[in-house]
Parts: sequence; structure tokens; C-alpha cells
Amino acid sequence: MCVVGARPNFMKMAPMMAALRGSADPAGSAEPFDCTLVHTGQHYDVAMSDVFFTQLGLPAPDVDLGIGPGSHGAQTGRIMVALESVLRDRRPDLVLVVGDVNSTLAAALIAAKEGVPVAHVEAGLRSFDRRMPEEINRVATDAVSSYLFATEEDGVANLRREGVPGDRVFLVGNVMIDTLVALLPRIRQRRMAAELDLAPGRYGVVTLHRPSNVDDEGVLGEWVSALERIAVDLPLVFPAHPRTAARLAGAGLDGRLAGSGVRVVEPLPYVEFISLVSDSRLVLTDSGGIQEETTVLGIPCLTLRDSTERPVTIRLGTNTLVGAEPEAAVKAVEGALSGPPRSYTVPPLWDGRAAERIAGILRRMEWRAA
Ligand code: UD1
Repeated sequence: MCVVGARPNFMKMAPMMAALRGSADPAGSAEPFDCTLVHTGQHYDVAMSDVFFTQLGLPAPDVDLGIGPGSHGAQTGRIMVALESVLRDRRPDLVLVVGDVNSTLAAALIAAKEGVPVAHVEAGLRSFDRRMPEEINRVATDAVSSYLFATEEDGVANLRREGVPGDRVFLVGNVMIDTLVALLPRIRQRRMAAELDLAPGRYGVVTLHRPSNVDDEGVLGEWVSALERIAVDLPLVFPAHPRTAARLAGAGLDGRLAGSGVRVVEPLPYVEFISLVSDSRLVLTDSGGIQEETTVLGIPCLTLRDSTERPVTIRLGTNTLVGAEPEAAVKAVEGALSGPPRSYTVPPLWDGRAAERIAGILRRMEWRAA
């Protein structure tokens, strides 16, 4: 049973479903798994959920829990209660979760309590900052998982340090990059920059949605001022998460941005978003996954957070940890625009075949709860 809930889950689960159901195996030699897809409904808008199912070729969910928004306690609890009866009904042999959102943790916890082995894809990432809800989700999900699939060496090292037995940990690469590699031809054809009247290489892309950056009106106002200043030299496109759009509107900041070089647009579907990023000069973001996508695309990424759980994107890739300081972001953009292009390499195993590796490993083992 595969469980998804929020936007960043969808691009990770699409290649997993294909590999598990055997549709990614052209020779058709691998025995397909009998595989159910559950959507918790953590994200529910067309733009945050439905469009990804269509575009990424994810099958329609077999079960939709329809949970919707809520506080962390309410959301996590409601998912656990609803999934508990689904698990009792369907009795899966394994529950597979991806990433670090509330749905990931809720599904892993209730599966483990029901005695169902849990496989966690994207295990072992750590920002070492427990103020981030995702960090708690990562630590707790890994603690109850039987099989831990890591994207990079740091993930393996973190799990080793936490005492996870080595025979449960597998370095397999990055399933989100599987989706990027698979859709690259469509992404290259899409030419989103032209559609928005932007010249390739002459604009930046912004995403901001972490509660710490957008929930406080004063902090959000400082980010808006910084973006306005950056946009004097580099026009910016800002696909705004619903949380951010609501906060901008609530604070009357959307009207102010309308008169600046910062163009706020609706959340974009996957192909359109990556197309926009791949033709940009740089990206400013507080997202996790975008740090990885920019590394593979070779686009400079300025991460507007104090910590990252994905240090390989800094060590090998194009990522710079700028900090959650608007003034620092202005300086970092100046530096990136005037400095030489950064050299980078794509991390090992980020080659488009991670889901296949995971399916192969799962096929060879007898599943047992941790
Ligand atoms: C969640 C993840 C975060 C991920 C992000 C990507 C957790 C703790 N956080 O944060 O790691 O980076 O998704 O988007 O799981 N909303 C809508 N429509 C939707 C979804 C959300 O309007 O389809 C609004 C709701 O008002 C909701 C708010 O956005 O209250 C936040 O949604 P929620 O799922 O709680 O967290 P995200 O901020 O999206």
C-alpha cells in the first residue's frame, strides 16, 4: 500500500508506482506487485493535487481519505484514524511512504502500530533543526520504518549514527529525480518562460511557503521588500502556495507586489514549473525538493532557510544556504549575478533509476515489521 498526501509526495510516488506495478519495466520480466494507492487528502486543490496525478501519470487513488487542512495534531490524528480502518480492511503486507510531510508520518505511525512493515523512501535526511515540522516527521518516520531507502550518503550516515541496523538501510538514489529525468523531454518542449514573456536566463523564480517565512506579517513584509529590490535588476516570477497567497492577500501585500517586478502567479503544474526553473538565471526558495531539482538542472539555488536536510546539494550541487534573512538574500543575488558561474556535479545515483532499484530490493526480501 502506497500512501501520498501533499504536493511533494506526488513526484516521488509516480515512479514508485510505475516500478512496483511493473509498467516501468519494458521487458515485462519483473513480477508486478499488487499495489494500492491511498491519498490522504492533505492537499486537495486541483492545482496542488489533481493536476499532478494527470501530468505525472499517477493512477487515480484506490482510497481517498479526504482529510483536508487542520492543525498538525488534527491533521495527523485524522489521517491515522482513517487509515487504521483501511489497513484493517485491506491488510497490506507493506506500507510505503515518501518524503517528510504530515501524511508520511501519520501513515508510518499507524502502519507500524498495526504491525505492518513500513518502507520509507527518502529516509535519513536531517536538518538538525526540530523547529521544522518536517524534521520531526523525518526522525519519527525513520524510527518506525523497517526499510529505509536513502537518496544520498548523508542519509545513510545519519541513520547509522541513530543506531538503525545497517541491513535495513539502502542507498538507492533519488526518486524525485526519476520524475525529472523521465519528463525532461516534455519539460524542454514546454517553454514556460516564453509564455510569460520572459527572456531565458534573465529572470529568477521564487517560492516561499514555510510557516517561519510567511505566517508572520512583519517577516513576510520584509521578504516582499527584499524581493522588490532584487526585481529591480532581475525580474522575478513567484508561483505562490495557497498558504502564501492567503497571507499576502491578508496583509495587503499582493497589491504592492502587483506594481513591482515580482510577478505572483498561481501554483504551477510540475512540467510548467520545472520548465520555468530550467530557463531561469537563479532560484530563491525555502522548499526542500527544489534544492535537488536545481542541482540536477545546474541552476543556482539560493535557499532562504537557516538549515538544509540536503547538504549534498551544497557540497556537489548548485545550492547555497543563504539563511532566513531578507537582507542576506539581496546580497546573495547580487553576488550570484556578478560572480562566475558555479561548477557542479549531479550526486551519485541521481540517474532516473532509483524507483527501479527500490522495487528490485523489495522484490528480493521477505517483509518483516521492524
Ligand atoms: C506541506 C508540507 C511541507 C511541504 C508543502 C508543499 C507538512 C508538515 N508540510 O506544507 O513540507 O513543503 O506541503 O506544498 O506536511 N492549502 C490549500 N489547498 C491545498 C493544500 C493546502 O488551500 O490543496 C492551504 C490550506 O489552507 C492549508 C495550508 O495551505 O491550511 C497549508 O497546508 P498544509 O498541508 O497544512 O501544509 P503546507 O504548508 O502545504
